[in-house]
Amino acid sequence: MRKILVTGGAGFIGSAVVRQFISETPHSVVNVDKLTYSGNLESLKSVSKDPRYYFEHVDICDGEALQRVFETHKPDCVMHLAAESHVDRSISGPSEFIRTNIVGTYTLLEASRNYWVSLAPEKKQSFRFHHISTDEVYGSLGNEGFFTEETPYSPNSPYSASKASSDHLVRAWHHTYGLPVVTTNCSNNYGPYHFPEKLIPLMILNAMKGRPLPVYGKGENIRDWLYVEDHARALRLVLDRGKIGESYNIGGGNEKTNLEVVHTVCSILDELLPSDSPHASLITFVKDRPGHDYRYAIDASKIENELGWIPLETFESGIRKTVEWYISNAEWVDHVTSGEYRNWIENHYEKGIS
Ligand code: NAD
Ligand code: DAU
Repeated sequence: MRKILVTGGAGFIGSAVVRQFISETPHSVVNVDKLTYSGNLESLKSVSKDPRYYFEHVDICDGEALQRVFETHKPDCVMHLAAESHVDRSISGPSEFIRTNIVGTYTLLEASRNYWVSLAPEKKQSFRFHHISTDEVYGSLGNEGFFTEETPYSPNSPYSASKASSDHLVRAWHHTYGLPVVTTNCSNNYGPYHFPEKLIPLMILNAMKGRPLPVYGKGENIRDWLYVEDHARALRLVLDRGKIGESYNIGGGNEKTNLEVVHTVCSILDELLPSDSPHASLITFVKDRPGHDYRYAIDASKIENELGWIPLETFESGIRKTVEWYISNAEWVDHVTSGEYRNWIENHYEKGIS
């Protein structure tokens, strides 16, 4: 049984990781989250009363608070997911991305290192700092080829540049100070509890409400989609069995143009929620994202061959589950779209009614 400190555990991927740890393993989780606009404790309702779940409302840029968290909980390892994660927001306002993704990662690395050097030899040896990153650090592909762990870094957006910086900091803390780190770089995730600023949940919710479906440019850009629960399982495997100092690419082998993705969402909705006109009639082509990366595609053979990971969902099964989830989780959706989820911490946590 281990105690895992997860940063960003109230976010989309972090909450999937926390839910899996609590429901499928004997481990404890300390969720360290600042609860920005994308942090939502309602995504953790199913596990938040478990005695193995702890919540710390902390900013990863606050070194003193992090030191207190390490001293209080004495974790066996760290999984670092907290970040500003949305490319469009990084274009309109990069400063929070520099702050959280770079300064926050540096602050967390220092707090982890100070804690790690103080550990007894056995605990020190088994400690891991697992940094969760993105395939966007590799830049953009043309029509051919895949990102491997050897692909040179070439980030194009403020978001991907901030994540690339954080990857380099993690690497340096291993090389210089010997901190036992492992890094993963994953492709586009989708699934339940995804904040509706990202392509798939935005399209599902807009289509359900009969609103326009804004597709950037011609919708020809390609992403490699992975169901979030498959990503969470991969992360748990890398934490357990990944080699110190190595990085692992994670991807679903599901390359789709954005237009294909939107048409798939629309046809599932036509079947589940028929309306007078097909949902695809809502598709609206809008101005392209500045510096829009054309194609991402992951070669996941390292994690498959060395650690035996394979995704369980196909894109077809995962996208259907996702659309069904948004249809049947109206309360979560309403609270996010109305902003009511922001009150959850005051209403439930700080008054002690977990
Ligand atoms: P998200 O935006 O849904 O969640 C981010 C979480 O981090 C939120 O709970 C937020 O409150 C928290 N956070 C933000 N700033 C913080 C700070 N200063 N201190 C403490 N907590 C803070 O993001 P996500 O999509 O779940 O992504 C999680 C991680 O995975 C990120 O590091 C992201 O770069 C990486 N990633 C995401 C994808 C994807 O498709 N979503 C793919 C590959 C990698
Ligand atoms: O590749 C991994 C990355 O995937 C993660 O590191 C990021 O955190 C995550 O946000 C995601 O980045 P993208 O920019 O690829 O995701 P997004 O959902 O914003 O956009 C997916 C594609 O859809 C992209 O080509 C832009 C396009 N798009 C997006 C939105 C929000 C549209 O055409 N219309 C939209 O309204």
